[in-house]
Amino acid sequence: MMSPVVPERIHSGWYFLALAQELSGEITPLTVGRRALIAVREDERRVRVFDARCPHRGAHLGYGGRRCGDRIVCPFHGKRIALGSAKARLSVREYPTVLAGDALFFRLGAGGTDDHGFARVIREVAQRQRLVGAVVRRVTVPTDVLVENAFDVAHFGKEITLGPFGELTVEGELFANRFLARAFSPSVVVTEIGPADRASTVVTGGTPTYDGAVARVAVGTAGAGPDALDALVHGAVPGARYALKPGRQVVAFRRFCAMFPPLDG
Ligand code: FES
Repeated sequence: MMSPVVPERIHSGWYFLALAQELSGEITPLTVGRRALIAVREDERRVRVFDARCPHRGAHLGYGGRRCGDRIVCPFHGKRIALGSAKARLSVREYPTVLAGDALFFRLGAGGTDDHGFARVIREVAQRQRLVGAVVRRVTVPTDVLVENAFDVAHFGKEITLGPFGELTVEGELFANRFLARAFSPSVVVTEIGPADRASTVVTGGTPTYDGAVARVAVGTAGAGPDALDALVHGAVPGARYALKPGRQVVAFRRFCAMFPPLDG
């Protein structure tokens, strides 16, 4: 008998939730851990994320739910569920999101302390260059191993510090290009490659689902050489099959991850 999949624990902080090509319609069902979510597209520039479970009897609003103004009509008993309004009798919680080019991010957790500057940094990146979806792939490793891969000093560099917002940062070189990776949560890393004034960007995320995990990569192209950019895009996901030996950089990354409280669901 196959053993059931035990979903990875989820944590507070930012997740790379979806690429534009995954947001199939006005309402898209998504999951993080066991948590059922819906992404609701408002227009080209704005996507909102809500809990998916109807507060009446728990039906999934992402399968058959119909948008009606600022509400969703539940497919099960037809009640009109408010989107994010705490004042309404029946409503679903809304989460903070950033849509940066093709990449949709959302944040779990009540406070702003687990932001680590991510919303600001990713918006600045998106103003400089368009982030285009490059990879969506199921993976079989814990999601933090994907991000940990960026902190492999054997490949990338030696200087591991905390950045101005408390994000974990490593600087080094890749194919003679400047390399700067910044983890903003256990699940999201933003890597600059190339000269500081015209660096390309690779955003890598690992998101747990109810039956495994999904890796996503988005790329903004500017000044990096093609070898370095290819290596990052195509190395980030397969490279993460191997957890790193617990050297100084991995210890620093795991200490950073421990700052994000685990959450239920
Ligand atoms: S479960 Fe949604 S209206 Fe009843």
